[in-house]
Amino acid sequence: MRISVIGCGYLGVVHAAAMAELGHQVVGIDVDAVKIARLDAGLPTFFEPGLPEILASSIASGRLRFTTDVSAVSEAEVHFVAVGTPQTAGSDAADMTFVDAAFSSLIAHVKPGDLIVGKSTVPVGTAARLAEQIAASAPDVTLAWNPEFLREGFAVQDTIRPDRLVYGVPDGAAGERAARILDEVYAATVAAGTPVIVADYATAELVKVSANAFLATKISFINAMAEIAEATGADVTKLADAIGHDNRIGRRFLNAGVGFGGGCLPKDIRAFSARARELGKGEAIAFLDEMDKINLRRRARVVELVSDALGGDVTGKRVAMLGLAFKPHSDDVRDSPAIDVALRLTEEGAHVVATDPQAIESARLRAPHLTYVSSAEEALRDADAVVLVTEWPEFVALDPVDTAAIVAGRRIVDGRNSLDPAAWRAAGWQYAGLGR
Ligand code: UDX
Repeated sequence: MRISVIGCGYLGVVHAAAMAELGHQVVGIDVDAVKIARLDAGLPTFFEPGLPEILASSIASGRLRFTTDVSAVSEAEVHFVAVGTPQTAGSDAADMTFVDAAFSSLIAHVKPGDLIVGKSTVPVGTAARLAEQIAASAPDVTLAWNPEFLREGFAVQDTIRPDRLVYGVPDGAAGERAARILDEVYAATVAAGTPVIVADYATAELVKVSANAFLATKISFINAMAEIAEATGADVTKLADAIGHDNRIGRRFLNAGVGFGGGCLPKDIRAFSARARELGKGEAIAFLDEMDKINLRRRARVVELVSDALGGDVTGKRVAMLGLAFKPHSDDVRDSPAIDVALRLTEEGAHVVATDPQAIESARLRAPHLTYVSSAEEALRDADAVVLVTEWPEFVALDPVDTAAIVAGRRIVDGRNSLDPAAWRAAGWQYAGLGR
């Protein structure tokens, strides 16, 4: 099939390359000329395992190209809109500027019979509003809403083999045709047994935000238990293992620590709350505001633990920060707990020396005044305290005995509860986790 993808950020690039990998003819479009030049040369603009390979093979086969010229959509009959919906400055609501601009420019170039497919995460009600706009200027064009659920670090696999496909379509023949076209786009995925849920627009939009709200709630729930564990001497990691054995609960997403960050969960739960308030239903999901607060409290708690380890004052102390990305296998530092912790410690007078296998460059753009070094060993050398904030395998695998030999003070705060406290204590370390 001939496909266009508008917006070549995280979601758009992975989607475009994955669609080409599935055998479609794809053009990726973005207003950012620098980004497009890089992508068209086969160079990803961010770190994502597996992406460089499929980008290179799709470009080499001639199935994928990138352009800044939106009129290229006329080469395609299915158009995915994958632009960002960041948090609006000074408000919790999603900023719809990019979605609205993408639709306006796209609508000017579509042909009768084309299908537009929204992938961006949007406030519920957006698809219905955009469908009206399409009906007014391009009446023979249908809109579908097909949310994505990709996790950074597994984005390619999540796009080609997602847990489920959700198609939000209008009622009647146009909706049935849209679902058939999407089945054809995802033929290989559907043939592999991926469940397909066909729904109305509002349901499709809500599936996405409620899935993220549930995941954020699960993480904040266990972090709330960590707070109670801290007050009682209980161990939240054992508690998570024990409740996780109940199939109704499940162990995944019950890792207590410094909490969630990234370009999705934090802004999506805030935008969901803002939208619910607009709908007069703020009360229904008021608990999400509490989840946000629990999450942010954990960052403050890590700073407090570092300070406690250093006798209550971090001034002039050298703190080795292991991790900058919001999670391992990513170079993304958007709303990263690590950056937040580093900035707070710096504000309190500590000299933070940070490292990350992938995220130093992106962190430098956000926090230029921090000290960055390219290896854990350099960060650890002469450190008065160590804080692990992103559980990259190489940090988790650090040997407590070898590490003890290079630091100035054996104090470690395990912001992800991913180290073995007994092994670190046995090597003479003062160990502090969250809720254990
Ligand atoms: C998330 C959703 O998982 C994905 O379905 C959606 O499409 C986009 O948002 P992502 O942001 O890539 O994906 O990261 P995810 O793996 O969900 O982790 C989010 C954050 O939660 C990370 O900061 C991670 O460290 C944290 N986390 C995750 C925990 O603190 N504890 C856990 O048990 C799990």
